[in-house]
Amino acid sequence: MSIYFDNAATSSPKPDCVVEAVRDALTRTNANPGRSGHAAALAAARVVLKARESLAALINAPDAMGVIHCFNCTDALNLAIKGSLRAGDHVVATELEHNSVLRVLAELARRGRIEWTLVPPSPDGFVDPAGMRAAMTPKTSLLICTHASNVTGAIQPVAAVGRIARETGVRYLIDGAQALGALPVDVQALGCDLYAFPGHKSLLGPQGTGGLAIRPGTALNTLREGGTGSASDSMLQPSELPERYESGTVNLPGIAGLAAGCDYVAGRLSRIMMHERELTDLLYRELSRISGVALYTPAEESARTGIVCFNVGDLSSAQVADALARRDIAVRGGLHCAPGAHRFLGTLRRGAVRASVGHANTFEEAETLVRAVRELADGKRA
Ligand SMILES: Cc1ncc(COP(=O)(O)O)c(C=O)c1O
Repeated sequence: MSIYFDNAATSSPKPDCVVEAVRDALTRTNANPGRSGHAAALAAARVVLKARESLAALINAPDAMGVIHCFNCTDALNLAIKGSLRAGDHVVATELEHNSVLRVLAELARRGRIEWTLVPPSPDGFVDPAGMRAAMTPKTSLLICTHASNVTGAIQPVAAVGRIARETGVRYLIDGAQALGALPVDVQALGCDLYAFPGHKSLLGPQGTGGLAIRPGTALNTLREGGTGSASDSMLQPSELPERYESGTVNLPGIAGLAAGCDYVAGRLSRIMMHERELTDLLYRELSRISGVALYTPAEESARTGIVCFNVGDLSSAQVADALARRDIAVRGGLHCAPGAHRFLGTLRRGAVRASVGHANTFEEAETLVRAVRELADGKRA
């Protein structure tokens, strides 16, 4: 039976309630939400609203209408970044960011619209908030920090960066791709204006879902305009949330599944966290005992998510991931769309192997992975 340790890419398996909710949306409530007034369309609209409310409750967002349904975390980050920046602005972000942040900034810079500074992590793999503050200029209008590195799993000091944002009045975006559903998230306590998240990772929803939580009063330019089912006599995009940022027919089956995943996680977050932490601890502890394995994940348990990142001897990460795949164990090798993190780790050339645990993994599976890595380190390549 195959073993799945690639939950940081997308979670698997999805709980039965998610599968059921998707089926229900494609059958019982299969209509266009927010458009027509018949029973199925109203039921579909309730599904979309319910998802927004569940997500808002999970992250303590003050207003559910400020939780915008997006296609994935990348889509949410594009809206947050491009919607915030004006010509001449300066952005401070961290070198640990994912390409879903870096490439957006790089493209805006290439067009000559913005300038940006990337702050490197300290040698321990965590960004120093004081370093972010020092990188700010009078033109800085946006701070961006990943909640947790998707390469090492290191949980970043996002609340401390939030305090800087609040003190200086500079807008603050957190990339919650590796955190929401895996850690408690309170967007008000974090002091952020924008929190971007995927629906398909630790929230256990389907691919093609994600969201952006917008603090009330945070204005964004739209990336897309079009039909919203509201104020149809106006040629201009409505100013009300969420319609302003949700043009076109939404992904009803995906959003229905996301609502179910969100409720599933919210109802057992501490249990899931404890289980994932025990699995991660086992992997970290046992892999660290294998001679020739280099670990890149923080040793401190409370400072990491469910990611264990490593290399084996002089093998490339692709060789290790392929050898594990031949044993029916799914992990990810290569560069994890975060070149700055690999530069920091010195793994730009050979990448790193990422094993990421999920709610459904067992201790036996973790032990099987450890055994397989030990065999590879001992030179028994499949
Ligand atoms: C830190 C981080 N940001 C952004 C993303 C992009 O997420 P999505 O694939 O939902 O667009 C990922 C995906 O792995 C990620 O790990």
